[in-house]
Amino acid sequence: MKCVDDFRLVLGNKDYVPIMIGGMGVDISTSELALVAARLGGIGHISDAMVHDVSDRKFDTTFVKDKAKTYKFNINNLDKSLVKFDMARLAEATINHVRSTMEAKKGDGLIFVNCMEKLTMNGPRETLRTRLSSALDGGIDGITLSAGLHLNSLGLIAEHPRFRDAKLGIIVSSARALQLFLRKNARLDRLPDYIIVEGPLAGGHLGFGMDWAEYDLHAIMDEVHAFLRDEQLSIPVIAAGGIFTGTDAVGFLEKGAGGVQVATRFTITHECGLPADVKQEYAKASEDDITVNGISPTGYPMRMLKSTPAIGSGIRPGCESYGYLLDGNGNCSYIDAYNREVLAHPEQRTVTVMDKTCLCTHMRNFNCWTCGHYTYRLKDTTHKKADGSYQLLTAEHVFKDYQFSVDNRIALPPREE
Ligand SMILES: Cc1cc2nc3c(=O)[nH]c(=O)nc-3n(C[C@H](O)[C@H](O)[C@H](O)COP(=O)(O)O)c2cc1C
Repeated sequence: MKCVDDFRLVLGNKDYVPIMIGGMGVDISTSELALVAARLGGIGHISDAMVHDVSDRKFDTTFVKDKAKTYKFNINNLDKSLVKFDMARLAEATINHVRSTMEAKKGDGLIFVNCMEKLTMNGPRETLRTRLSSALDGGIDGITLSAGLHLNSLGLIAEHPRFRDAKLGIIVSSARALQLFLRKNARLDRLPDYIIVEGPLAGGHLGFGMDWAEYDLHAIMDEVHAFLRDEQLSIPVIAAGGIFTGTDAVGFLEKGAGGVQVATRFTITHECGLPADVKQEYAKASEDDITVNGISPTGYPMRMLKSTPAIGSGIRPGCESYGYLLDGNGNCSYIDAYNREVLAHPEQRTVTVMDKTCLCTHMRNFNCWTCGHYTYRLKDTTHKKADGSYQLLTAEHVFKDYQFSVDNRIALPPREE
């Protein structure tokens, strides 16, 4: 019986343990988590979501405070189009995060950064160009383009000296999205080094509509493989979303996947950036506690725990400090929803907003508990302690369980005293 370790992910002229830990913003997939994957010969992701805040927490910079001070005058203004990011500061924050991670890297694996196109930051083109090129400047091994079609993203860095040597990949949820991406980038003569196919059971935002349950990752993988065959392209395809055991992973690898990308199982590891009490919420969740809804202002459905504090919260939009989801015209659908409720309830000091959420502020405060479909199985991966809480795992334990387990078995950790 085969295990994941019987396969290798080949990228360029090197091969890796075919396990990627997926990017989880905001700093849920920490540098520490990514570093474990790299040390064990696989691939880890950091995320550049809200990177100013990540830099402030890790390196005592004051990017967020300074931006809030600059735009304080605008806090009561409904129009947020003035609230812009400073490119030099965005570059500095990105380089801080990337470089410190890369300097700590040990082992034969790689570290990539997850870059979501939907973080439009009131200046989609220039902010994305700065994010991508600064990640390359900071020495990242590769960039995974996510949360968007990224039709113009490669063009933004085509002149960068590392454009052809860094690994560049894209997350898609259909063969059609891949086709569009390849067609749009054909003139650059730069194919992606890997393609991640994310199915409907993943955490975070979904590349599907609210009919997500009608899709199946194996079927989409087959479509993508068929498309690449027709185009005579040989690019590793990595399956993601709902791969919970090593055996699930082998099911994809045996059918030709280059690797798997996994995330949910790592949310209850010590290295994961979620606060300890939130990890317990994930560990104890049952199937009924998980929902897919439309409250993300990105417009994509998002999976989360029903008890997440972000649902219904009517906090004032935090754009002067954050503003990562402002589109190119300074709009965000949470601002509209919030203003609508304030106007409808002038007598109330606080409002409830059910249809959208202030994703920046809630993700920053770990109050939007986005999760994968199989979060309810996390309790089967660890021990319940005498006080009712669940024992956290090491990322190494989870990684190696994916790598070596067979027969759908999940190795429990040694019991903590
Ligand atoms: C808590 C959490 C946060 C996530 N955040 C992001 C993100 O910021 N960007 C992204 O592209 N994918 C994100 N994902 C998706 C993962 O990177 C990964 O592709 C997917 O969850 C894999 O499926 P699994 O969780 O069932 O293993 C997130 C997943 C989780 C569980």
